[in-house]
Amino acid sequence: MAEFAPKTLLPDSADESIRPRLLDDFIGQEELRANLRVYLDAARERGQAMDHVLFYGNPGLGKTTLARIMASELGVNLVTTSGPVLERSGDLAAILTNLSRHDILFVDEIHRMPTNVEEVLYPAMEDFTLDLIIGQGPAARTVKLDLEPFTLVGATTRLGLLSSPLRDRFGIISRLEFYAPEELARVVERSARILGVEVTAEGALEIGRRARGTPRIANRLLRRVRDFAAVYGKGVVDGVQAREALARLDVDEAGLDEMDRKILTVLIDHFNGGPVGVKTLAVACSEEIRTIEDIYEPYLIQCGFLNRTPRGRVATPKAYRHLDRPCGDLGQGSLLSR
Ligand SMILES: Nc1ncnc2c1ncn2[C@@H]1O[C@H](COP(=O)(O)OP(=O)(O)OP(=O)(O)O)[C@@H](O)[C@H]1O
Ligand SMILES: [Mg+2]
Repeated sequence: MAEFAPKTLLPDSADESIRPRLLDDFIGQEELRANLRVYLDAARERGQAMDHVLFYGNPGLGKTTLARIMASELGVNLVTTSGPVLERSGDLAAILTNLSRHDILFVDEIHRMPTNVEEVLYPAMEDFTLDLIIGQGPAARTVKLDLEPFTLVGATTRLGLLSSPLRDRFGIISRLEFYAPEELARVVERSARILGVEVTAEGALEIGRRARGTPRIANRLLRRVRDFAAVYGKGVVDGVQAREALARLDVDEAGLDEMDRKILTVLIDHFNGGPVGVKTLAVACSEEIRTIEDIYEPYLIQCGFLNRTPRGRVATPKAYRHLDRPCGDLGQGSLLSR
């Protein structure tokens, strides 16, 4: 996602020190965490490679973090690659043949893997074998190569873009949900401890409430708010400091940033609340379609500001109220969504 992600969502180098290393340090996602604990313990007890796992969910919710946690909990190597990097089937074959027993192969953005590369994965995931084609034309023959048993961990922001043969080969498919404000407050408190920042419970919750349900954004906001607190306050991130700094950062009460508000404003002011197609909306907002679909929309939908209908995107009455637009001119689409 690197090339189309807005700046606020790109990983930050300081992320590494605050990334949880063990499952017990991973906050929230209770059900996923409890299940993962069982699968990890069972694999360890049986002395086998764990079943292949697919994590899906919005950027910054913890997919990469979970893959790393799995490797450290199992005490195995983590080999990392990503869908768009694997251009030729030989690229993947080379990685697979180099894996040691029970290693974890993490493929980020797995939905962007080319089809011919994906086909190499099928026998590898199913039987830990590699079908190599040697020679060309009628003289070509297939040679089967055995691989060490390994665990594939795939991550994707778009489950729908994964082919079904690939999806079906994962034994465990887990969805990461947006985090509750209280969970994000715990993320903020934990990161603040590691970074040596003093934060009050109220300050942490204020950041947690406005971090779009996303730990990466909570951490990013904490660092920015800390800067404001250092310059304008006594260095302590309390409720007042957090509110002031977040206002300066253009993050509003609902946690919406400038682009979120632009999308809703364009939808209401230019298209009478919708329905409008995502392509038109993207052009009107000067933003990439994928960025709107992958990053902005899911949170706006989750908060009830936007609806996705078969005829296009629609602003909800809540969006009108949030932007102080009279509900009297609710577009047809908004009426549909009530
Ligand atoms: N449950 C959590 N508890 C504490 N910190 C978390 C949690 N989940 C994520 N983080 C923090 O958020 C940051 C982003 O998480 P991560 O890189 O795992 O997201 P991702 O889902 O892989 O995102 P992308 O789709 O952009 O690759 C990490 O550096 C980590 O510090
Ligand atoms: Mg990631």
